[in-house]
This record gives sequence, structure tokens and C-alpha cells, in this order.
Amino acid sequence: MARFPAAWLDTLRERSDIVQIVSGYVSLKKNGKKYWGLCPFHGEKTASFSVDEEKQLYYCFGCKAGGTVINFIMDMERLTFPEAVELLAERAHMPVPEMERDEEYERRRTQRDRLLSANREAARFYHQTLFSPAGEASLAYLKKRGLSDGIIRRFGLGAAPSEWDALTRHMLEQGFTLEELRLSGLTVVKEAENATEDQPARPRRSFDMFRNRAIFPIIDQYGNVLGFGGRILGKGEPKYLNTADTPVFNKRKGVFAANLLRKERHLDHVILTEGYMDVISLTQYGIPGVCATLGTALTGEQAQLLRRFAPEVYLAYDGDSAGQHAILRGLKIMEEEGIPVRVLDFPDGLDPDEFIRRDGAEGFRKLPALSSESYRIRRLRDTMDLSTEEGRVAYARECIKIIAPLDPVAREGYLKDLSVQTGFSREVLLAQLNLTPLPVSEAPSPNRRPDFPKKKPETANEILRDEITKAQETLLGLYATGLLPEDLVLEEDFRDSELKFIYQDLRSGTSVSSLIEQAPDEESRSRLTGLLISPHAEGTDEMIRMAQECARSIRKATAKQRMADIQAEMAVCQDPDRRRTLLAEFQDLVSRSQLGP
Ligand code: GTP
Ligand code: MN
Repeated sequence: MARFPAAWLDTLRERSDIVQIVSGYVSLKKNGKKYWGLCPFHGEKTASFSVDEEKQLYYCFGCKAGGTVINFIMDMERLTFPEAVELLAERAHMPVPEMERDEEYERRRTQRDRLLSANREAARFYHQTLFSPAGEASLAYLKKRGLSDGIIRRFGLGAAPSEWDALTRHMLEQGFTLEELRLSGLTVVKEAENATEDQPARPRRSFDMFRNRAIFPIIDQYGNVLGFGGRILGKGEPKYLNTADTPVFNKRKGVFAANLLRKERHLDHVILTEGYMDVISLTQYGIPGVCATLGTALTGEQAQLLRRFAPEVYLAYDGDSAGQHAILRGLKIMEEEGIPVRVLDFPDGLDPDEFIRRDGAEGFRKLPALSSESYRIRRLRDTMDLSTEEGRVAYARECIKIIAPLDPVAREGYLKDLSVQTGFSREVLLAQLNLTPLPVSEAPSPNRRPDFPKKKPETANEILRDEITKAQETLLGLYATGLLPEDLVLEEDFRDSELKFIYQDLRSGTSVSSLIEQAPDEESRSRLTGLLISPHAEGTDEMIRMAQECARSIRKATAKQRMADIQAEMAVCQDPDRRRTLLAEFQDLVSRSQLGP
């Protein structure tokens, strides 16, 4: 793979002022050092989209979209990097030069590209197999589940043949190596076994990961095939096999059907389900914006990804008790991430697929989208006995806790319902409400940045780790301004290897822009931009002061953490020599922290 010459790209960026370019799409207002506007990548009513003129970066504090002017054009116009470059070059009247080779860049890209093309080829193989004799059983199964030909093609569903190594042989013929197949999770490679007394030597064996299963390719928003789910044809265990995490696939970060979500414009909500079949079935019934987690519980990263497709998320999990627990957990995650969320509560323990096949799209559209409070109250009600006075009191108290964080207008409807259900007057309920303290984490505080809802760290060690990480991140952002004196920041201040790598790259002269543009995926690009946009500081003096502060607190917190580790080890360590060493180190840390600045 080749690249545009770095110096030429620098000139292109210089001649494509980001404030000017973004202004062509978003109306911007200057406030402080940055420009602000409504984010074009997610629906919002207050401006959290910022443009940093100094660094020539954009970053949305809401959905975390971010990057350089080239990335902006990529995202806005849905172009590839070279296409966006060409568009900007034309605008700046700069002829596009020959691309040049860059070995370091190629090395980093190659493995990822190889694994992605292996996955793409495998997806094609499975899809073709579905319509061949080897795929008859899978096709019959998918048809039995009510899927149409059109929907099967739209999702690129496939069939894994029942032979041991049909795919592996095909892929080897296509020029992929066994190592690449192993890394992409398509082939299981058993290591060679040496002869033992009671067993002869066995050569290395390999076989297909998926055999005799219906195949669901997992495709990201750029159309990359990241991995596969494979369903058993009928009853049996495991029901689904999923590709394990690979260098290109992380279950905690992606969602199923992101490729289709990306194509939907103007969604007002996305519908998050638990299963591949739920997504496909709802889509076949004409419901837009459906996706699913990948067989694991919802993560904050997935929540952030979803917000990029629509301003609100509807949780549409199974109506059984496992699904209900998952919803309560999911609501918490969404709230921590600051994402508006509602719940579709499926009756009779049905999952979304079963429900829509029973009640149709009409029935589905009639399901109320419950607020998180309504949903919590509904679940509470299932567990409480409202026929006794005691039950009603307990129920009222718990409900009040749920609605306490709401504003008075939002609460009013709940209070009315509650009064009808329990027989307590609205005044009594209000009095109870006034006695209920707001949970600390939910109390509104003027300093809390809603953009960065952090989970509350639980143990002292977690708090320390959090502190160290935050200080390192700030320090890196300050360093990236290029305005700090040479020796203020040391490599050893970055204990986190991701941050250390970024520091090393910057130190060796890579520009912030090209670092961001080289990010392998959108996730890391947004993370890098968030780290590298200009920190809030008035001038260079304040930046230096902040950097010194960060360096000091990193060094101090690291010492504290080490001391805690030593104490923990001392509590169980019997060896007198080791105890002496630990004690000496501990005393050294204590005296240094007392001397310290
Ligand atoms: P169908 O029975 O095909 O309708 O499945 P479903 O879509 O109703 O899925 P279910 O609610 O049983 O599971 C939801 C999701 O969890 C699936 O889409 C898979 O991603 C995952 N899953 C289900 N069963 C297994 C399993 O046995 N192993 C693993 N690793 N994942 C599973
Ligand atoms: Mn199902």
C-alpha cells in the first residue's frame, strides 16, 4: 500500500483550513479558544461539536467523532482517505502527486488487511455455499425460520459445509496462509504432539472453526467483515459459535449490522437487540435501525458507537428474566455514558423475533417505548405484593427513589400513577420524595461534564489508577501542543503503553494530524483526537504549570500504588529476605514522598 508524501499532505492541510471547511457544513460560533456547533454526526440540541483552530482538529464531546480536516470530509461525504484527499486537493488547486511507499506504515497495515480480506473471502465462500448442495440444510433451516431470499442476501448469510476442512482448503488455495487463517479465527490449528510412551507422534492438524452451521457475518460500518456467528441447525450445544477476539475483531466494541445502520439516514432511534436472528427478523418486517450486541453484555464502547447512528437507543432484549436483568444493566450503562435510552418490554417472555412473527410489524410499532423510570417501576411491581399495606409502603418508597432524580414536571405523571396504585395521596408521596436524598452519583453538579461520564471507581487502588491515567492523558495533550520546555515531560511518565507509544511518535517528529489520520479504525481515531485536542489552558504559562502538576501527581500516585502493592505482599509473604527487601523499598518510598515537592 502506498501513501501520499507527508510533506505534500502537510501543505494540503495548511491550505484547507478546518474552520472554513467545516463551516461549509455546520454553523460555527467562537467561544473561548474553540469554535462550537451542532454535531453533524449525531442528532443533538446543544452544541458539543468543537473545532480546534490551533491544532486543526474537530472533536465532538458528545459522540466522540473527531479527526483532521481530511477525516471530516471522509465522515461527511462518506469517502475513503484518498478520495477525501483528492476532493480537498481539487478545492485547493493542488495537483495530486504520485503515491510513495512507506514500509513502516505498510507493515502495520498489512496484517490487518490480510485478515480482513481472509474474512471477506470466507464470507463469500459461506454465502455461495448456502446456495449449493453443501448448503442445503442451512438454507432449509433459514427458510424454516421465515427468512426470505432477499433478506438472506441483504445480510450475506451463509452456510458452513459439514466437512472438516472445506473452508480451510479453499482459503489455502486462495493463497492465505494457515497462520492467517488461525489468526482470523477461521481455522483451528492443533499443535503437533510428540510421541509419548502410550501415544504415537501426531502431526499438526487443522480444521474449520465453523462446520455444518448457518453463518451470520459480522460486518462493521465500513463494510469490513470482522468475524462470524454460526448457528447450529436445530437443537444442540453450543447454539451459537462466535469468532473469538482477533486482531481485527473485538466483541466489546462492535455491534451486529453496523454496516446497515450506517446507511440509514435520519434515524431517530436505534433498536438494540440481543440476537442476530432478532435483527434479521425485525429488518425483514420493515423495522429500521436494528442491531445487536455480539453475544456479550453491553459495553460503554458499544453505547458510544450506537449514539453515532441516532440520538436515542431503544433496548429490545428478550422478554424472559435473563433479558430483564440485562435491560436493567444496560440502562445503567447508557445512563453512565449519558445516552438517552428507552425500553421495549416484550410480553410473555418472547424475544423480538418471536414477538414480531406473532404480532406483526403493527404490533411491534404499538409497543410503548418506556422511559428507564417506567421500566424500573414495572419490574419493581412484578416483585412486590400490592395487596398488603406493607407491600404498598415498600413499593411507594422504592418508586420514589427511582423518580427522585427527575425534575418536578417529569415526576408529576409518575406521582399520579403511584397515588392511584397505592392509595397514598400525592401530598404524602411528595413529602416522602423530599425526605429521599439524591444518590450522590446522580446529583446534578455544575462542574460535572456530561460529556465525560466516568464510572465511579470502587476501590482505593482503582481511584489511584484512574488518577494516574487521567494525569497521563492530560500530560500527553499538553505535550502535543509543542509548547512545553524540552525536558518537562519524560518518557517514563507514561506508564500506559498506549500513551507511551503516542508520546514516542510525537517525540520522533510525527505530527498530530498524521498520527490521527493513521489511526487504524474510527474508534482509535476518536480516542486519539480526544487526547490530542488542545487542553483548556489560558496560555503557555498555565500549560507548563498544569504539566508540572500532572507529572508530580503521576509520580506520587505511582509511588502510592506501589506502596499498596508492597503492603498486600507483606501480608502474605513469609520469606524473611523478601520481607526485608520489601520493607526497605517501602521506607524509601515513604521518605521520598515526604521530601517530594
Ligand atoms: P435463536 O434461537 O436462533 O432465535 O437465537 P436468538 O437470536 O434468540 O439468540 P439468543 O437469545 O439465544 O442468544 C442471543 C445471542 O447470544 C446470540 O445471537 C449469540 O450472539 C449469543 N449466543 C446464544 N447462544 C450462544 C452460545 O451457545 N454460545 C455463545 N458463545 N453465544 C451464544
Ligand atoms: Mn430467538
